[in-house]
Amino acid sequence: MKNSRILITCPKGIPPFLKQELLALNFPVLSENLAGVETEGTLEDTMALNLFIRTGHRVLFQLKAFSSNNADDLYRAVLGIAWEDHIPEDGYVCVTSSVDNPTIKDTRYASLKCKDAIVDRIKEKTGKRPDSGSERDRSVVHLYWKDDQCSIYLDTTGEPLSRRGYRKIPLGAPMQETLAAAVVLAAGWDGTGNFVNPMCGSGTLAIEAALIGLNRASGLLRNNFGFMHLKSYNETLWNELRERSKKDVKKSLSGRIIATDISGHAIDAAKKNAATAGVEHLIEFSVCNFSDTPLPENGGVIVMNPEYGERMGEEQRLEGTYKDIGDYFKQKCRGFTGYVFTGNPALAKKVSLKPKRTFQFFNSGIECRLLEYELYEGTRKFKREKPLPA
Ligand SMILES: C[S@@+](CC[C@H](N)C(=O)[O-])C[C@H]1O[C@@H](n2cnc3c(N)ncnc32)[C@H](O)[C@@H]1O
Repeated sequence: MKNSRILITCPKGIPPFLKQELLALNFPVLSENLAGVETEGTLEDTMALNLFIRTGHRVLFQLKAFSSNNADDLYRAVLGIAWEDHIPEDGYVCVTSSVDNPTIKDTRYASLKCKDAIVDRIKEKTGKRPDSGSERDRSVVHLYWKDDQCSIYLDTTGEPLSRRGYRKIPLGAPMQETLAAAVVLAAGWDGTGNFVNPMCGSGTLAIEAALIGLNRASGLLRNNFGFMHLKSYNETLWNELRERSKKDVKKSLSGRIIATDISGHAIDAAKKNAATAGVEHLIEFSVCNFSDTPLPENGGVIVMNPEYGERMGEEQRLEGTYKDIGDYFKQKCRGFTGYVFTGNPALAKKVSLKPKRTFQFFNSGIECRLLEYELYEGTRKFKREKPLPA
């Protein structure tokens, strides 16, 4: 099998964590950009990447890179790819695209030209024309076209990797699974200390923490990936890879995971999601105000994702909550490292503690910060944030 460039896409802010993951899996990092990291490997390697990567969204295997000035150039170049080796003639193909070229007014037109070239080529070689459409649950091809530079990729993921398959019960404002994994990694949690998650909502952070702590592959629950709909798909190899990954899963965690929420409805949903993910037994759930969350004696990390008032008028209501989080950290959480994930800098100020570090993330296009607070034990004073100039 031939090596090629592989681009793993992700939301902005995540590339440093994705890069760490790739290096830990022994994949080289060829480049890092705002919303993706490039590595290389074979089409077979994309199975491992889809199974193990926690913070990426799509694993794109490059088939061809070329220059193209207009849609006709694009059609000719795509027609030159041996699609009959990749996409079953009786299959279904979806073309997605990201296009920034002055001759293309509507990206759908570029996708259409690309799709035409794929099905025309397969018809010419096999006598059959695969179906096509916008569903991403079978073969997916991605076109990236910026100025005159084009890349054609097999999207070996299909539906993004954030759809792990465990979040069956939806709740308002859940965090994407990939982002939650990046937040857990940013908090440096590896399963050895305690992970406390007040305001857990549907449980995404606690569930991702459990999966990371156990070293359980994030793709194990999914039974559909783009690579499964390619002619090269080797089911035996995939099953072997899955089974091998299970051998590396830890039986238990030395640290505790505690997840609470004021809403009983949220805790019910979080428990069901954790059960689907197979980690319910590792998370101590309870219904309570965040400040009554039971805390282990030996410290750890406390990660909170309060609402951040995306609608008018909500901000004022939430000011008190953020102030209370600051008081809770100061009064009850000595010896822990506290984290607050929020998309509202004005509310973050109400915590009134000086963050030791901040990480920039994006949640559904909104710029967010993960603020890290060191909550010293003993007599050491908390660093208060200087008041803002009037
Ligand atoms: C933005 S959501 C958290 C989403 C979560 N990260 C997820 O992935 O589902 C905020 C949660 O805080 C909870 N909450 C609000 N005020 C609270 C309080 N005073 N004590 C505990 N939980 C609270 C809400 O019920 C909600 O589930």
